[in-house]
Amino acid sequence: MMSTSTAHRSPEDPAWFRHVLGQYPTGVCVITAQPADGPPIGMVVGSFSSVSMHPPLVGFYPSNTSETWPHLQRASHWCVNILAAHQSDVCRRIATAPLAERFEGVPWRPAPSGAPIIEGAVAWIDCVPVAVHDAGDHKIALAEVRHLDAASTELPLLFFRSGYGSFSPLTLTAYDPDMSLTRPLRHFELIRSIAQELPDQGLRCLVTAPVSDSVVVIGQLDPPSGSVAARPTTLVGQRLPFRPHGPSIFEAWAPAGEQAAWVARFSPDSQEAEIRALARIRERGFSIGLGSEGHRRFAAALEQLAAEPGAVPNEELDALVASLDYEPADLTDAVLAEARVISAPVFDSAGSPVLAMTVFGFRAKPDIVRDAIAAVTRCAQRATRTLGLAPRRD
Ligand SMILES: Cc1cc2nc3c(=O)[nH]c(=O)nc-3n(C[C@H](O)[C@H](O)[C@H](O)COP(=O)(O)O)c2cc1C
Repeated sequence: MMSTSTAHRSPEDPAWFRHVLGQYPTGVCVITAQPADGPPIGMVVGSFSSVSMHPPLVGFYPSNTSETWPHLQRASHWCVNILAAHQSDVCRRIATAPLAERFEGVPWRPAPSGAPIIEGAVAWIDCVPVAVHDAGDHKIALAEVRHLDAASTELPLLFFRSGYGSFSPLTLTAYDPDMSLTRPLRHFELIRSIAQELPDQGLRCLVTAPVSDSVVVIGQLDPPSGSVAARPTTLVGQRLPFRPHGPSIFEAWAPAGEQAAWVARFSPDSQEAEIRALARIRERGFSIGLGSEGHRRFAAALEQLAAEPGAVPNEELDALVASLDYEPADLTDAVLAEARVISAPVFDSAGSPVLAMTVFGFRAKPDIVRDAIAAVTRCAQRATRTLGLAPRRD
């Protein structure tokens, strides 16, 4: 039997259209811009989406009736801010306040383009508008991505059936489709008892692995301390910028062409020096970092991150890593006395480092540093043999 009324089910009925399409949840973004002559502007959209990888395009659908859209359309850059679950107040403010007052009480910092990055946003995408197409009572606005970062570990804000909410996973497995995190976690589990020897010798130890474009702390082993910390902290899960001066050890055994591209990308002004530093790591079999003001600030940032994930923005961490002093030419006693971190590689069968064991917290005496170097390289070699990934050499 036919339904008694189908009229209200027509796509021409706005309420019905909205009701049915409202069954599809969206994230919540603020598209921001910084006009040359005025306060920053922002517009809340749920219609944001990634569009293309080559070239990297994103897009959203502004309404023809939006008063904000003409201002955004005139801007040279946009920054898309993906709001965090706790930011529904920021969303309401920007969606409802007069154009010139939307950022009052909303902390922000400039993206590379100058457009606002809203503090606390889970990710930001700095882009250049490239095309606008008509689409009924909306436009399709497309932009090419220039810079982007996922700077927070918070969950995103969601919009569904006219209300705000957040994501809760239904599956118990970690989302790791290419095993990029699971594999190093398993490697660490298999060599944990070997790594434990380092803390047993009084050294603090981090085990890291390359995961996608960064390096992730997979394990942290500390010597048993006399007093139990009031609130224990850990760096496990922390991403570190994979760039020269930091976890360079993961690049030291890469093919020459790959190394050249890597140093050209991150250190265009000192490419020869960086290639030499990689060669030193390879020749020595370990990486060595020295004490400096940069190192002190980096260590303080790591302490902060161990206590509170996301406490230091990725760009700041990136700049700190770039300022570190690594791989000195000569390991004289005076230089060794300045050593603060030593890393040794654990290899796979292809001869690529899959984990790095990093020790720090030793007293700055040349002999103690030499012992730490011997301990960490010995442990890393045993770990390589235990994983059975590399051909046995003894
Ligand atoms: C969760 C949410 C999602 C929204 N998504 C869009 C959108 O995709 N496109 C759009 O034009 N407006 C969207 N809006 C409405 C705009 O944020 C804004 O309120 C509207 O454009 C009217 O303001 P204006 O005339 O000052 O631009 C959304 C609002 C909220 C609260």
